[in-house]
Amino acid sequence: MLDPESAIDQINAAFGKPKGYRTLHAKGRFYTGTFTATPEAGDLGSALHLQGPPVPVVVRWSNGGGNPHHPDGATDVRGMAVSFRLPDGTATDLLGQTAPRFPVRTPEAFVELVKAANKPYLLPVFLARHPSAVPAMIANARAKSIAAPASYADATFYPVHAYKWLAADKTASWVRYTFVPQAGESPGVFTGADRLQDEMAARLQRGPVRHTMRVQVAGPADDPHDPMSVWSSSARVFDAGTIEVTALDPDREKDGAIFVFDPARIVTGIELSGDPILRYRPGAYTASVNRRV
Ligand code: HEM
Repeated sequence: MLDPESAIDQINAAFGKPKGYRTLHAKGRFYTGTFTATPEAGDLGSALHLQGPPVPVVVRWSNGGGNPHHPDGATDVRGMAVSFRLPDGTATDLLGQTAPRFPVRTPEAFVELVKAANKPYLLPVFLARHPSAVPAMIANARAKSIAAPASYADATFYPVHAYKWLAADKTASWVRYTFVPQAGESPGVFTGADRLQDEMAARLQRGPVRHTMRVQVAGPADDPHDPMSVWSSSARVFDAGTIEVTALDPDREKDGAIFVFDPARIVTGIELSGDPILRYRPGAYTASVNRRV
């Protein structure tokens, strides 16, 4: 398997090795807010943030590539990373992207995909080498996953991997998440390289920005361990709560401070699937973090 340092070397090289930035999702801003769970979430999951009282969240909206100066109007996937800060001092993170389907199941193929996304003339070679990626790529194109949104507040984000929720009675459910926008009215038309960040700043002047955390529960035939699986037999989809962003958080990484979102950071009541991409990511994120310290 591709070792994480080599993966980061290759992705860094594709973006011209900018120093001090995230290897991917290099351009983004931090925000603060709360998450408030619905009663249905508490019935199915015993984790503390699912019990109803609001918990603080740290959110980062970003553009997907490794170019920290990526113009906001250009094509790219967008990211919404959420860190839920629980009352017992622990935290759990979900990292969503605007692509609903993950097209590969190995880190090697992911790195090839990142290179192809950055240099589209490489895309035919990628697809020829990974024909199983085609259905997911078509679904992602239909979802306009790389089209520039009018606002991060209008975009739908998919954290992709499955996690196991344990209920108070120890009943286990495999779930996947979607962050569904409750956008509201736009504060106006913004242009320029930072238009998504500017639009969000203006929007927050007027009030909070909300995404519903929708949860899909796996049915008996659905595979939680494969990032490419489509859960067609799933019987239940419900709204598990609201992520409400209230303010910019401009000082979060000031003076060399580092904040890391980690998709494998979990709390009591939540377990990881065996998804090879999910299991690989912490090593890659650590390699990236070490280079931006
Ligand atoms: C093998 C697969 C993947 C690799 C190697 C990878 C690699 C990376 C790296 C190196 C970073 C920068 C980390 C840092 O410096 O803090 C990053 C950030 C991020 N990744 Fe991934 N990633 C993968 C899959 C995914 C998937 C499946 C998603 C979501 C569905 C995702 C969403 C994000 C987001 C939202 C961020 C930005 C986090 C932030 O704002 O700090 N990644 N990724």
